[in-house]
Amino acid sequence: MTLAFVTGATSGLGKALAQQLAEEKIPLLLSGRDSKKLDEMQKSLHVDVTSQVADLTKTNDLKALVHLIHELQPDLIINNAGFGLYGNAVSYTTREQLEILEVNARAVLELSLESAKALQRAKRPGIILNVSSAASFFAIPTFAIYSAAKACVNQFSKALDEELKPHGIRVLTACPGQIATNFRARAASNYPQQKDHHTMTAEKAAREILWQIRHKKQLHIFDTKYRIATFLARHFLPNSFVATLIRKSLSKRINSEL
Ligand SMILES: NC(=O)c1ccc[n+]([C@@H]2O[C@H](COP(=O)([O-])OP(=O)(O)OC[C@H]3O[C@@H](n4cnc5c(N)ncnc54)[C@H](OP(=O)(O)O)[C@@H]3O)[C@@H](O)[C@H]2O)c1
Repeated sequence: MTLAFVTGATSGLGKALAQQLAEEKIPLLLSGRDSKKLDEMQKSLHVDVTSQVADLTKTNDLKALVHLIHELQPDLIINNAGFGLYGNAVSYTTREQLEILEVNARAVLELSLESAKALQRAKRPGIILNVSSAASFFAIPTFAIYSAAKACVNQFSKALDEELKPHGIRVLTACPGQIATNFRARAASNYPQQKDHHTMTAEKAAREILWQIRHKKQLHIFDTKYRIATFLARHFLPNSFVATLIRKSLSKRINSEL
């Protein structure tokens, strides 16, 4: 890899990915919304780092990222930025729900397509890895738009992978279970959270993703307990039953008004 582009690199999984790629001496192009955090990362990582402040709900910010992709031609692209909101869909403004789709799906599609075009034009191989979620396999009340956006990522990533394979470009989908990051606090509008023993660290999730990239695995659900639970739930249980279980667990994370 000559340059790795990571979105949402200012926190959680994206930050851990940037750190582990830097340990492998891979130059980085990092984006996020917080310029101060991006500057701190640039200073702390011992590789060449280019950074770009970008809010993925803003058309002009996306345009700036697309411009950089064509100029710098990263050959590893990790679409990691994302967020969700726990609670009934109608308890938020429609704009808030649309932003979930814009960040988790629209931006991922646009950056995947533009990265693939830049690589194809330069006749170079490359890997695009899209961070989805184990939640993507189920229709989840109180997490409806997030799980739908991630399902969309799964479908287009798998199809694009088949289209682009002959050109030496792979599109991989990572489906993590719960990771201990800021994700949950944002999704729960900072409602106090109980300790959860099923979460993995961001560092472990980043290692799983780098393993997936090394092995060019099209779809990777991790860790093992999520792989088994997802398999059993998808093949042996009705979606309505799984949805009720997940909804029950999510209801403990939020203010009951949501
Ligand atoms: N944590 C989990 O349990 C879990 C499970 C499965 C999948 N995932 C997925 O893993 C990925 C990383 O999430 P995380 O757990 O590391 O959460 P996180 O700590 O909240 O990090 C999310 C990153 O995405 C960025 N982001 C959010 N909204 C953005 C926007 N409008 N424009 C640009 N960047 C934006 C955040 O930037 P700011 O700091 O500026 O908000 C941050 O850098 C996401 O795609 C998430 O859906 C997470």
